[in-house]
Parts: sequence; structure tokens; C-alpha cells
Amino acid sequence: MEVEPTQLKVALIPGTGRIGSRLARRLALANVSVFIGSRSPQKGLQGAHDILASCPHGRVQGGSNQEAAAWGDTIFWNPSKFFDDLPDPNDPQCTFVAGDDEEAIQRTVALVEVIPGFKAIKAGGLANSKIIELLGPRWLFELDTLNAGGNYRSGWKYVW
Ligand SMILES: NC(=O)c1ccc[n+]([C@@H]2O[C@H](COP(=O)([O-])OP(=O)(O)OC[C@H]3O[C@@H](n4cnc5c(N)ncnc54)[C@H](OP(=O)(O)O)[C@@H]3O)[C@@H](O)[C@H]2O)c1
Repeated sequence: MEVEPTQLKVALIPGTGRIGSRLARRLALANVSVFIGSRSPQKGLQGAHDILASCPHGRVQGGSNQEAAAWGDTIFWNPSKFFDDLPDPNDPQCTFVAGDDEEAIQRTVALVEVIPGFKAIKAGGLANSKIIELLGPRWLFELDTLNAGGNYRSGWKYVW
């Protein structure tokens, strides 16, 4: 099954926080239609306006979380961490995608890879997400070191 990410309606619940708003902006820049959800409809609308200020041709709406859920055919709930500065597309940042529903996996892979500089690696069934989550502390150590002015970089090799 081929998924065309620009045909998807992606609702971010919430789309106003650090992760949600940045992911929404990246998707909007890639011409994916997005809805910024919030507990406060006004805050959701403001979030959409903020994205449109830097992405005027984006297909962006905002409102309540309930409206976002009713509107979307694809829901991002607590999405993964994305950087402000995108990696080099020739040296993409990989993100693991684990799941038990093949259609949901295909959609997620398509949405990851519609953003330049990101590549999805299928990591098996949903049960594997427990193992992937354990990589988080190592990654946070790297981020803290970089923020402190260091140049430490960890390397990952996924073998299957
Ligand atoms: N940032 C990271 O590095 C990181 C890494 C791993 C996991 N996470 C997890 O990912 C999630 C989002 O992280 P973030 O950094 O984007 O957080 P954030 O910037 O604090 O944004 C979270 C959003 O959640 C909504 N929210 C806050 N309290 C809520 C409540 N009681 N009920 C419903 N919605 C509430 C708020 O949106 P409204 O006010 O618009 O409703 C807020 O904008 C968190 O669960 C966090 O633990 C974050």
C-alpha cells in the first residue's frame, strides 16, 4: 500500500507544545494538512496562526482537541522528539517506528519521510517500543552534552 502523505489529515493533540508545534510546522512545510489541537480552542487557533506566519501557504487549522480528533484521519498523540534544526538530508536522522497495524505503520513512515532529513526504520511490533524507549536516556545525555558546548555524538547501528 502506497501512502501519499500530502493526502493525509494530521491532527496533533496537543499541537501547541514544544513537540507538537514543531512537528506541525515541519509537516505544514512539507504540504501536509494539519490541525493544531488544544484544550483551549483559542490557543489552538493561535498556534495555527503562529505556524502560518512562517509557512503562509501551509494547510493549517487550529481549535480544540475534540475538533482535532473529529477532523483528522491520522492522529499524533504525544509524538516523538524533533529538533529545531533539521539534520543534513544526506545524513538523515533515523527514527524507529514500531507497531502492530500495517496501515498505521505505513502512514507513520510516510509522514516521517515527508520531512527532509528524517528517515524511518521499521522496528517490528509494538512490543519493541519498550526497548526503543530505553534508548532515550542515552540520547538525552548526548543532547545535554551538546547544549553544554561539547561535541559528543553517539552512533547507532540497527541490525536485523
Ligand atoms: N520534550 C521532550 O524532549 C520530550 C521527550 C520525551 C517525551 N516527552 C513527552 O511528550 C509530551 C509532550 O512534550 P512537550 O515537551 O511537547 O510538552 P509541552 O511543551 O509542555 O506541551 C504539552 C502540551 O500538553 C498540553 N497539556 C498540558 N497539560 C495538560 C493536561 N493536564 N491535559 C491535557 N493536555 C495538557 C498543553 O497544551 P494545551 O494547553 O494547548 O492544551 C501543552 O501545550 C509530554 O508528555 C512529555 O513528557 C517530551
